[in-house]
Amino acid sequence: MDKFIIDGGRRLFGSVKTQSAKNSVLPLFAASVLTDKQVTICETPAIADAFCMAQILRELGAEVRFEDGNVVIDSSNAHSHIISSALTRELRSSVFMLGSLLTRFRRAVIAYPGGCDIGLRPIDLHLNALKRLGVDIVERDGYIYCECEKLKGAEIAIDFPSVGATENIMLAGVKAEGRTVLQGAAKEPEIVDLQNFLNGMGAKIKGAGTDVIEIEGVGSLGGVTYTPIKDRIEAGSFLIACAICGGEVEVEGVSGENLGMLLHKLRENGCKIHTKNDKIRLSSYGRLKCNRRIETMPFPGFPTDLQAQITALNTVCEGGALIVENLFETRFKYVPELQKMGADIEVRGRTAFVRGVKGLHGASVTAGDLRGGAALVIAALAAEGVSEVFDLTHIDRGYSDLEGKLRSLGAQIERVHM
Ligand code: UD1
Repeated sequence: MDKFIIDGGRRLFGSVKTQSAKNSVLPLFAASVLTDKQVTICETPAIADAFCMAQILRELGAEVRFEDGNVVIDSSNAHSHIISSALTRELRSSVFMLGSLLTRFRRAVIAYPGGCDIGLRPIDLHLNALKRLGVDIVERDGYIYCECEKLKGAEIAIDFPSVGATENIMLAGVKAEGRTVLQGAAKEPEIVDLQNFLNGMGAKIKGAGTDVIEIEGVGSLGGVTYTPIKDRIEAGSFLIACAICGGEVEVEGVSGENLGMLLHKLRENGCKIHTKNDKIRLSSYGRLKCNRRIETMPFPGFPTDLQAQITALNTVCEGGALIVENLFETRFKYVPELQKMGADIEVRGRTAFVRGVKGLHGASVTAGDLRGGAALVIAALAAEGVSEVFDLTHIDRGYSDLEGKLRSLGAQIERVHM
């Protein structure tokens, strides 16, 4: 297992290009089995979750090639509707495969999905919606067995705007007979990206980015070559890194609109921010102020995927911050690691109370999940002295060449193979 060695306390300067969005790319992989024509996903980031999705598709019988940063998928020979537990346990996003496989084969068997250990992560919304589309579902021995004679368009409402459930419904409704209307849809930019990708294949979907998505089932879907949107969470992580270290950094690829709530909070901290088209420039000098309160919410609220990183920032700001995690109940597992670096944080249920300290010090810490791991790296960059961040498997799931990009901004960070 690799580790990072980080010698902290350096300001960050320069510009960094954002990778394609992990949370866009993964459902696009799933969508690629909806057609037997070739699909090319351009500029796919070299992250472990993408490699894992590729492996899932290969197990189904598809051919997947990584070529010059693009991924070319030919699933004309896909024949299996079963996803082995080894792969689904590694990657929760494999749950999208239910919608795709049902559209392609009318059947799907999938082991109960895994992913980051950040809470219960039930999939009841996915399963209830699929039932509305005419799918029979049996859960047995850790597997979910789904079957239907045909998918039939339906009026569906979901109680909570789940990103994954919204995407699954789009993937199951795209060729369903008739019309599917989803009320209460998630509005994340990655949902809009999936709509654009599917429409590029010949689907008839509208409304993504709003509460209501309308899908007119089509008879067949063709191939597509598509460049996904950039990763607002990666971009946000770099902005927060610059905020905590001090300096001036420009991230390229993400519009300010897609990070509105983060930028609002960073301005509250005292950062200066300028946005222009798809560039965001942040400068941070002197000691920042704590955010009084941050609550994670579905888009356009503050993203749960940036909660750990903004908490790390608040640990060294002046004053106190209250961080409420509304989406995933155990998403504060990184806190004891931050405490090893001198952070003053108390967690009670879904709320973290942060009292800003003057500075953090280097320590040996372990990354237990993807975004918590990013938060530890961010804290280590600002800490006085040397830190080791152990177990990079989670960080590698979502950030491609994190260390290279940070080094290009002036950070001192090395990966050591152990
Ligand atoms: C996606 C993102 C993840 C992000 C999350 C919230 C991908 C690959 N992952 O995850 O990075 O943190 O959105 O923005 O896009 N829920 C249920 N029942 C369900 C489904 C969800 O109760 O059937 C609950 C979850 O427990 C959670 C909330 O809904 O509390 C949000 O989950 P959801 O939006 O579904 O997240 P994911 O799609 O898993």
